[in-house]
Amino acid sequence: MDLPFDVSTVVYLDNAATTFPKPKEILDQALAAYASFGVNPGRSGYDLCLAAGNLVAQTRRELTAFFGGSDPNRLVFAANATDALNLLIQGVLTEGDHAVSTTIEHNSVIRPLNHMARDRGVEVDFVPVERDGRVDPRAVTRRLRPNTRLVIVNHGSNVIGTIQPVVEIGAECRKRGITFAIDASQTAGMVPIDMRATGVDVVAFTGHKSLLAPTGIGGLCIGDGVEIRPTRFGGTGVNSVNPYHLEEYPYRLEAGTGNVLGIAGLHFGLAYIEARGMEAIYRHEMTLFAALQEGLAAAEGVTLHGTTSLEHRLPVLSFTIAGRDPSDVGTLLDVEYGVAARTGLQCAPLIHRQMGTGARGTVRLSVGPMNTTADIGAAVEAVSEIAAAARAVTA
Ligand SMILES: Cc1ncc(COP(=O)(O)O)c(C=O)c1O
Repeated sequence: MDLPFDVSTVVYLDNAATTFPKPKEILDQALAAYASFGVNPGRSGYDLCLAAGNLVAQTRRELTAFFGGSDPNRLVFAANATDALNLLIQGVLTEGDHAVSTTIEHNSVIRPLNHMARDRGVEVDFVPVERDGRVDPRAVTRRLRPNTRLVIVNHGSNVIGTIQPVVEIGAECRKRGITFAIDASQTAGMVPIDMRATGVDVVAFTGHKSLLAPTGIGGLCIGDGVEIRPTRFGGTGVNSVNPYHLEEYPYRLEAGTGNVLGIAGLHFGLAYIEARGMEAIYRHEMTLFAALQEGLAAAEGVTLHGTTSLEHRLPVLSFTIAGRDPSDVGTLLDVEYGVAARTGLQCAPLIHRQMGTGARGTVRLSVGPMNTTADIGAAVEAVSEIAAAARAVTA
C-alpha cells in the first residue's frame, strides 16, 4: 500500500500506544507460520490442525512460564488487555462485592469497574496515588473490607511511567484471601513479572506493546484457585454435545476461533525478547529515556509531569508547554517535525485530574525497543523549538 509519507523518516515515540515498528524477524516468522498452518486450531485431527494447536499450546506454556504462572490451561487468550480485563472484572465481581483500584488506572479498568458499580451492585474505591505516582500499599490496605473481592492495580503507568509496589499489595491481599490482579499492559515484556514471587493472582496482558506481537491478541494468566465466571459462551471445538459452555480452563473463558496469527506473534515475540534479553531491551530504552527526560527538563517553558525518578519507572514521559494546547503541540510535532506522539488524557482521566492536567491532558512520548539516540535528539530539538516559539508569542 502506498503511503503519502516516507515511514522511514518518522520519529516514532508512541510506543506506549503500541510498539512500532515490530522487529521484522517476528513479523516474518509469524506470517510464515500462519501461511503454512494457519487453520482453526483444536477443531480437527488432521496434521495442519494439530500443528496450529501445538503452536497455541506451546505459546500458552511459554507465557505461563514467562509470568511465573503454574498451569498453562489457565493462560487464556483474549483480543487485547481491555477484553481480558473485562473477562476478569465481570467474571469475578458480583452484587454485594467490593473492589479496590487506584487513580492511575487506564479506562480499561476504570470503566468496567464503574459499570459494575452503576449496573450490578458492586462498590468500588479508587485509591489516590502519591505525588510520585506510586500508590501507598498502606492506603490500599486501609480500603480493604470483609466483602472486598478484587484488588486491581495498574502495574506500569501509560501516562507517567511509574511502576507500582505490587509485592507489598500482593502480600496483604494474600493474607486476606482477596484476588489481586495487575494490569500489565505496559510492563509485560519490559520488566520481569513473577506471579508466584509477588503474590499476584491474575496478570492481564496485551500482545501488541512490549510483547511485540501484532494487535488483536492479549489475555489473562490466572493463578491456581482463582475462579472467574465465564461471561460469554459458544463454540470451543470440544464436547459439542454439551448444551452449555465448558467449565474447564482455558475453554471456560475462550469462545470461538482464536487469533492464530496473533498467538504466533506472541510466540516469536517471546523468542525475540529472550534472544535480545528483556533486561538489555529495558536498559536500552531507559538510557534513551534518561536523555529524553534530561533534554526536555532543560527546555525552557516545558513542564514535566509525574516524577523524574528513574527508579520504578517505564520509559514513558508526559509534558506540557506553557501557553500551548497539548493537542496543538502533538500536531506541530507530527506535521513540522515528523515526531509521532500521543496527546490528551491517554485513556487515564483520574490521574490527569489528580495531576491538574484533567482538562487538556499532556503530550506523551514513550520509548520502544527500536528507538535510537537520533530519535531522542530529534524529539528534544523539536519540543525545544516549539517551546521557544510559544515563549516568543507570549513575550
Ligand atoms: C495501562 C493500560 N491498560 C490497558 C490498556 C489497553 O490495552 P489494549 O488497547 O491493548 O486493550 C492500555 C493501552 O494503552 C494501557 O496502557
